[in-house]
Amino acid sequence: MISPQNTAATLLPKPFRVVGQDAPAQSRGATKIIWVGDADARTEAYAVSILSKLPCGSVVIQIALIDDVSAPQEDMDEAYELGVTAEQILLKAHSTWGALHGITTLRQLMSAGGVSDGLHITDSPRFSWRGCMLDVTRHFIPLAQLYQVVDGLQLLKLNVLHLHLSDDQGFRFGSRIWPKLVSEEHYTMEQLSELVAYAADRGIRLIPELDVPGHVTHWLLAYPQWGSEEVYASQRFGVHPGCLDPTREEVYAALSSLFAEIAEVFPDQYVHVGGDEVNPKWWQRSAAVQAFIVEHGLADERGLQNYFLHCVQQILASLGRQIIGWDEVLHEQMPECVVQNWRGATTRDRALAVARSCIVSAPYYLDLHFPADIHYQFDPEASQQSWLAMENALAEDRRLRHIAPALSWTHQWRAGAIELEHEPVANVLGGEACLWAELVDGPTLPMRLWSRLPAIAERLWSSADCHDSEDFYRRLLTLLEFPELSWDAHQNQCLQDLGLSAIQIEVVRWLEPTKWYSRLLGAQAMQARLQGSEMPQARPYQVHTPLNRVVDFLAPESLSVRNLVREENLQELTEKCDRALAQLWSGVDGEVVTALTATRDALQLTQDASAGRRAKDQVLSVLEERYQPYGEYLPALIPHLIDWLTEAG
Ligand code: ACM
Repeated sequence: MISPQNTAATLLPKPFRVVGQDAPAQSRGATKIIWVGDADARTEAYAVSILSKLPCGSVVIQIALIDDVSAPQEDMDEAYELGVTAEQILLKAHSTWGALHGITTLRQLMSAGGVSDGLHITDSPRFSWRGCMLDVTRHFIPLAQLYQVVDGLQLLKLNVLHLHLSDDQGFRFGSRIWPKLVSEEHYTMEQLSELVAYAADRGIRLIPELDVPGHVTHWLLAYPQWGSEEVYASQRFGVHPGCLDPTREEVYAALSSLFAEIAEVFPDQYVHVGGDEVNPKWWQRSAAVQAFIVEHGLADERGLQNYFLHCVQQILASLGRQIIGWDEVLHEQMPECVVQNWRGATTRDRALAVARSCIVSAPYYLDLHFPADIHYQFDPEASQQSWLAMENALAEDRRLRHIAPALSWTHQWRAGAIELEHEPVANVLGGEACLWAELVDGPTLPMRLWSRLPAIAERLWSSADCHDSEDFYRRLLTLLEFPELSWDAHQNQCLQDLGLSAIQIEVVRWLEPTKWYSRLLGAQAMQARLQGSEMPQARPYQVHTPLNRVVDFLAPESLSVRNLVREENLQELTEKCDRALAQLWSGVDGEVVTALTATRDALQLTQDASAGRRAKDQVLSVLEERYQPYGEYLPALIPHLIDWLTEAG
């Protein structure tokens, strides 16, 4: 428990500098906001909504430069200072954006027990780009939930929400000019404009993505003339063959009008244009495309994609926008474009080597279901060598051992690696957590997003030397009590709706979904991928597969097991498991019961070893064996038992 003396020690992300945090917190009375100079409407609204219920006493706010019209932008000043005296709390910032963060910090302090005279916090982010990419296409995320996401991002001091608005399975941007493109479930341009304004009031930029020239099956169903082959409706996930035909003028005319609509809604200077996973098959099979490649002196299909990117870049430049692309856009003659790294350690430096700024995402894929500490250890500016070493070490992590071959498979992405010889002229702008939504929909979103996003938020805000993961997990538990980030009640309801009793819910929370894309691919497609082929392979999931099983509602990392494993708890945990297992488990995956039976046996064995009834080494090796996937479930308590038993004398 945190005592009221050191509430600053609960802050997440950790501020740049905190002094005077040891004195006892004082009682301060009802919050009263006092302005030095002009009041700022955005800060005022946030302060009133957040602080009015907290006993902050006098809060004096001083903002050097108030601009309540502009949207937040890449180079905004987000620094703030909080100084506490017996009489008042003084919040100073250069801009609205810093003041908003200061209020968030004050809220966390007050919720943890208050502030003390002499506390002084000086804070500013390490990176200007601190984002979260949400795929709202594979599954539609209802608009109301996007507002909740914005609220959660603000609490984490993240400042970019990147919306992946189109893909093979749908098109969520409610274009007025191209209504045939638009999926039934979509956001209208007005709705998006309102969301942009809501996010701007909270210091959050919205970056739209229309993914071209691949991932466009849905576009081609509406406008087959934009491709070079016939396309078929697809409910599948994975890389599709359909791509836009870069030789056709009408494709660029359509893109010009579409991106003009995008620019109308999204004021940010950046638009994401995708560019990932372009399957070259159609272009290779088309005589017209091949002739075009020759005629334009392009080397190959990769050169053709780069030609296409130049055209798209020009369209967006004419709209006053810069482009971002996934790291497949890397090319020796690529246009001006920010590169979003996603394929492992080396594409970041390949971008910097061609003087392109980079957004780091490869270590921050939330849909891989990795635990928070794994994301947390990857510094966006770590040397390539140490990043590769960390990637290599993942297969040794007990929790990821079951997907070790898949982790090796990703080493193919290291082809073309470049060692930076000079200080690069381009920068790492920051990073983005990515949540692809093949296995995420509205009801499952809170569990998928909030359990690990704080780790990435801290990595992007706090200094590089803030990397104690135990301390992170301690602060995480406090942070996750805020309603914006808490999924407990919701998860409970989802599991109750499946017919589980309270005790069954308690023990299934000791399970986790298996990692990487093992759920999404299933055994057959996983084997195919590891052997170098992809589609068509039977996969367990497609767009219409309901996400309504126990595994869908589990947090990717079970935080509930972290504090359970102690000598005095083991008997009680075993009995709890027994009682839960003795109940009826109708309509629930059989593997839930198998994984819990393995957990129960592991608990008994651990007690036997700790009481000297069995040899510890023998028990440890049985536990290692039992810690394996049971269908899509992992018994997440077992690694904690292994650690505990290993450490126990
Ligand atoms: C990606 O994950 N296909 C960018």
